[in-house]
Amino acid sequence: MSGAMHFRNCGAVLVTGASRGLGLQLVHRLASGGFSPGKIIATRKDPRAGAPASAQQLQELAEKHPNIHIISLDVVNQESIERCVEQVGQLVQEEGLNCLINNAGINVVADFQTATAEMMIENFHTNAVAPLMITKAFLPLLKRAASRGGAGGAGSMSIQRAAVINMTSSLGSVELNWGEQANNFKWYPYRTSTSALNMVSRCMAVDLQPDGILCMAVHPGWVRTDMGGSEAPLSPEESISSLLSVIGGLTEKDHGSFLNFTGEILPW
Ligand SMILES: NC(=O)c1ccc[n+]([C@@H]2O[C@H](COP(=O)([O-])OP(=O)(O)OC[C@H]3O[C@@H](n4cnc5c(N)ncnc54)[C@H](OP(=O)(O)O)[C@@H]3O)[C@@H](O)[C@H]2O)c1
Repeated sequence: MSGAMHFRNCGAVLVTGASRGLGLQLVHRLASGGFSPGKIIATRKDPRAGAPASAQQLQELAEKHPNIHIISLDVVNQESIERCVEQVGQLVQEEGLNCLINNAGINVVADFQTATAEMMIENFHTNAVAPLMITKAFLPLLKRAASRGGAGGAGSMSIQRAAVINMTSSLGSVELNWGEQANNFKWYPYRTSTSALNMVSRCMAVDLQPDGILCMAVHPGWVRTDMGGSEAPLSPEESISSLLSVIGGLTEKDHGSFLNFTGEILPW
């Protein structure tokens, strides 16, 4: 059985940055893959704005699948985060939030010559600081879900109970940035922001363990999205279908891990 089937027993899943790319594909696959969770909360910077084509796609998906709820969330705006938590709380009530997927991200392309302090901070804020602030804000709802025990009962860890999944990149791996591979993608802001997200994931895994909330970082592969570009080998469908199978099958042994979209362990 594919791990993705476990999403069926999941009350509520939230995806940030669902307006396009991998976030949109996550929502699409969760809604129509035959293992739909109770509620799919698709957040985007501003439900009324954005590129018309992708805004339209998410809207159409929500019209087709009544369990998709579109909520506004600008991940770098604390007021927006708090408003979102409030709305999600009203939606999920006593069930809480089972799975938070911190997917929204940016790639500020700059190398050693062109990187500025502003570029570094902008990338760091969206990719590393925002997932931490969002997880902190959603903690009461995650704890509420975790306290209900989930399918495996108390002591178990899974997305059916409560989990935080951080969408990171293998480009954030310090160990892999050496030798031949280091000559590609000399992107200081992006690489360092995803390294920081990896450490945020590991720190949060330590802090959320007592509450039974699984926390890990996952690399979606190199995918043909606005960020990944047209040369990438994977389609969003290929990446997300494998990724959901991996995320759905996570247990306590994966707590605090850094995994590839295929499920293999990646070096930090
Ligand atoms: N594609 C790849 O090859 C690849 C590889 C490794 C890791 N990743 C990671 O996977 C995640 C998704 O990447 P992608 O390829 O889907 O990128 P993408 O096509 O550029 O989409 C990025 C998404 O993040 C959202 N976003 C950015 N800043 C935001 C903010 N302040 N508030 C709310 N939403 C915001 C965008 O919303 P708007 O439409 O409103 O701008 C969009 O929905 C990222 O974290 C990325 O680092 C991607």
